[in-house]
Amino acid sequence: MAELRRPDNMQRITTPELARAFIDEQIAALRAQIGDRKVLLALSGGVDSSVVAALLIKAVGQQLTCVHVNHGLLRKGEPEQVIEVFRNQMKANLIYIDAVDRFLDKLAGVSDPETKRKIIGNEFIEVFAEEARKLDGVSLLAQGTIWPDILESEGGIKAHHNAGGLPDDLNFELVEPVRILFKDEVRVVGSELGLPDGMVYRQPFPGPGLGVRCVGAITRDRLEAVRESDAILREEFAKNGLAGKVWQYFTIVPDFRTTGIRDGQRSYDWPVVIRAVNTRDAMSATVEDVPFALLQHITDRITHEVAGVNRVLYDLTPKPTGTIEWE
Ligand code: XMP
Repeated sequence: MAELRRPDNMQRITTPELARAFIDEQIAALRAQIGDRKVLLALSGGVDSSVVAALLIKAVGQQLTCVHVNHGLLRKGEPEQVIEVFRNQMKANLIYIDAVDRFLDKLAGVSDPETKRKIIGNEFIEVFAEEARKLDGVSLLAQGTIWPDILESEGGIKAHHNAGGLPDDLNFELVEPVRILFKDEVRVVGSELGLPDGMVYRQPFPGPGLGVRCVGAITRDRLEAVRESDAILREEFAKNGLAGKVWQYFTIVPDFRTTGIRDGQRSYDWPVVIRAVNTRDAMSATVEDVPFALLQHITDRITHEVAGVNRVLYDLTPKPTGTIEWE
């Protein structure tokens, strides 16, 4: 297929009407490309892959197979939301793979951040490839590539191409229906396709997920502390009007313990670090001025509701000098 480029004069998709026109056009184009063939999609639940899934369900229905890999590093409630939205509501053909033990066993004892990233990325490809080989007659692979991915890979900033990592025996033709869209346009299209706001307007979430927020070698108990504290932070930000305002917010659990007191006894537990930042392009970032009373309330909830945590800190560091993630 010819490499489709965004026309220089293309109107930005900012309204439901423009989104509807794009959707109608893409459905026709997808039907023309796919015909009666079968398509495979790795569905993470992120904005881009979710919008691609919703478009393909409308265009070719059961010819699409979605694979959702739970690597154990997703946020609380995410795998459940993917199943609810795509299998239960949109009636998609969805294969859910519980690969939690597989990933966590591979990551056990590994503390170097880049090695952790590589293990997570490689294992993901392996799990996905195994699943792809089990399916008969699938010749197409859909991807949530968006226009900035193309620009960044051309500019040498980022090695893009999810398909690039797949083994040679899996020789798919690519289907990239949101390839010419910017992120804000993908969101408008997603809303028009009926995806829930929580999925369409969610904050950025890195591929290695909570794995890079459970600093050092990942242990299951500390990973649960990251997941539970993150869920509390998200709930409180949503309740207090910060969810749509702050660009990215999450918690980190370092791999050391500190002394505290619980029920009159000495405790020796982990600290939780809160990070909440604003940025335009993630190259630099400023720290959100979260009201002190809210920080105190979140601290109270995390220290009382999350097992193994006795202390909460707020990261006051802009980027630079700190990166947004801790690893
Ligand atoms: P840093 O930590 O480099 O993060 O200031 C900038 C933005 O990139 C996200 N990030 C990642 N995204 N895979 C991803 O898909 C990664 O390995 C990764 N590392 C960082 C980070 O969440 C922030 O939005």
